[in-house]
Amino acid sequence: MKKLFLFFMTFISIVAFGKNEKLYVGTNPEFYPFEYLEDGKIVGFDADLIEAIGQKLGKEIVWKNIAFDGLLPALQSKKIDVIIAGMTATEERKKFVNFSEPYFTSSQVIILNSENKESLDIKSYENLPNHSVGVVLGYTGDVAVSKVPNVNIQRFNGASEAIMALKAKKVQAVILDSEPAKNYVKNNKGLELISTDIAKEEYSIAVSKDNTQLAEEINKAYKELVDDGSYQELINKYFK
Ligand code: ARG
Repeated sequence: MKKLFLFFMTFISIVAFGKNEKLYVGTNPEFYPFEYLEDGKIVGFDADLIEAIGQKLGKEIVWKNIAFDGLLPALQSKKIDVIIAGMTATEERKKFVNFSEPYFTSSQVIILNSENKESLDIKSYENLPNHSVGVVLGYTGDVAVSKVPNVNIQRFNGASEAIMALKAKKVQAVILDSEPAKNYVKNNKGLELISTDIAKEEYSIAVSKDNTQLAEEINKAYKELVDDGSYQELINKYFK
């Protein structure tokens, strides 16, 4: 009887442990340098950060590549445990998910095509009305520009498509997060960047509302990575 009990307990713990050792992480790898594909693999600042957090939690990261506007629904329906996607912790999103402590401060910028005369009077957000402006569907830039009256907003599925339209003079400006924007400007001749005074945004890791324990574990692991210098190493690797 005792033997049977022990066997049963071992079985239970294997099942329980086996279930917990994987962390399903959703991202949308079109957001350099936070997440992008390299030889089909998801890499970048966010990828390194969550891998390091996973290591602290003793959990193996299993990646799910999802369209950006599908990430929150995937989390809510428990297809994934975590989102790390350069995702801004907005008040609106906080209604649906819990966010970790912020791990990166960013802002929205305006990208122009200096070869397009129709773009040249754009110096700030106030100049956007009566222009066609490219944004990525569901990004915070989309939300911000949608509040400005009389802008002809063109929504794209990814930042590269918005940039292509800018180069082809199909839109006169693109609004995007500062770090990916800097990279597009660096790699595409003729593009220029205007910083805006629009409020700063903070990127956070999202977990589902009822998983408060995971949120706490992530915050604790994140704090350890900051304290032991690993976070700074990641900053140096991707942003210096
Ligand atoms: N920070 C912006 C937002 O939260 C854009 C994030 C895009 N991230 C991505 N992995 N594609 O809406």
